[in-house]
Amino acid sequence: MRIFSGIQPTGRKHLGNYIGAIRQYVEGQDRGDPAVFCIVDLHAITVAYDPKELRERLYDTTAILLAAGLDPARCILFRQSDVHEHTELAWLLGAVCAHGDLNRMHQFKDKSATQRELVSAGLFFYPVLQAADVLAYRADEVPVGEDQRQHIELMREIARRFNERFGETLVVPDHRIPEIGAKVMDLQEPERKMSTTVGADSGRVYVLDEEKAIRKKFGSAVTDSGREIRRGEDKAGITNLIGILSVATGVPEAQIEADFEGKGYGDFKKAVADAVVEFLAPVREAYPEIRADEGALELVLSNGADRAREIASRTLEDVRTAMGVGVPPAR
Ligand code: TYM
Repeated sequence: MRIFSGIQPTGRKHLGNYIGAIRQYVEGQDRGDPAVFCIVDLHAITVAYDPKELRERLYDTTAILLAAGLDPARCILFRQSDVHEHTELAWLLGAVCAHGDLNRMHQFKDKSATQRELVSAGLFFYPVLQAADVLAYRADEVPVGEDQRQHIELMREIARRFNERFGETLVVPDHRIPEIGAKVMDLQEPERKMSTTVGADSGRVYVLDEEKAIRKKFGSAVTDSGREIRRGEDKAGITNLIGILSVATGVPEAQIEADFEGKGYGDFKKAVADAVVEFLAPVREAYPEIRADEGALELVLSNGADRAREIASRTLEDVRTAMGVGVPPAR
């Protein structure tokens, strides 16, 4: 089973990234043969950004993944721009990706609406590069949060179309979206997903937040005017907190509802904060030492890139041959 996923080196990683994606990576690294994780700096340049900051954030993200438990001896962890096969494959796949499909991408619509100066062509082409990321490794499984469902559908379509047009070459991947926690919502506006770029800081818990900040954010989380601790369409805030508590403790959601029957929102929010503090503590504690050694981080990334390139270059050879591009293969 080949596993592949990618994460952007933008902003500070939050509880949504951790619950929806990072914990799945850690779980996947022993199932994957191999499990491949990529920090996608080339995706990050499709919106306004500061080059110096990009490098810093790339190290931050690498250190968070390592602190969360990714082990370079058990998985491949690398920087997207180090493996040129991704960009080449993105271009080649552009030949079988419909313009109309890209036009339908929610993420493009959302992100392009918030760009003040320039809506880049790169932002439009973003999902094709994402397809190349995964298809270059012939991955079977892609662990992601709910917001990536449409991008995975598109890469499946691209792989199918490629195989139809040029012969069986690429693997059609499946997404792996967790049952609980696939869409962690903003604590202040629980109708909206927790996001790095939208909403106030008080609505998102960062993986590296101090205990005090975590408690404050859950203490002021928006609930509703009712009193019951149960899931429901009219109870977005409480539903979100139940999901978070369930993931952080491993207790099923229905059991949480039973345990908190008759208790108040105050006690409940405190229990969620306690659980999340404990859940994130190992990452927060391991992080500073790992982040401090940029030389070691570079070494992890470049070793990872060497191993990634070995796999991706074989796929590229097959893709070029199938497409009739470049030097003909030796007969
Ligand atoms: P990115 O960097 O925005 O997010 C990384 C992962 O976190 C998940 N996620 C969430 N999960 C639950 N609740 C939330 N509120 C939440 N917010 C984010 C995302 O679903 C994602 O899994 N396009 C991708 C990066 C990418 C990629 C890939 C992913 C590039 N190439 C190939 C998979 C395979 C992105 O922007 O993720």
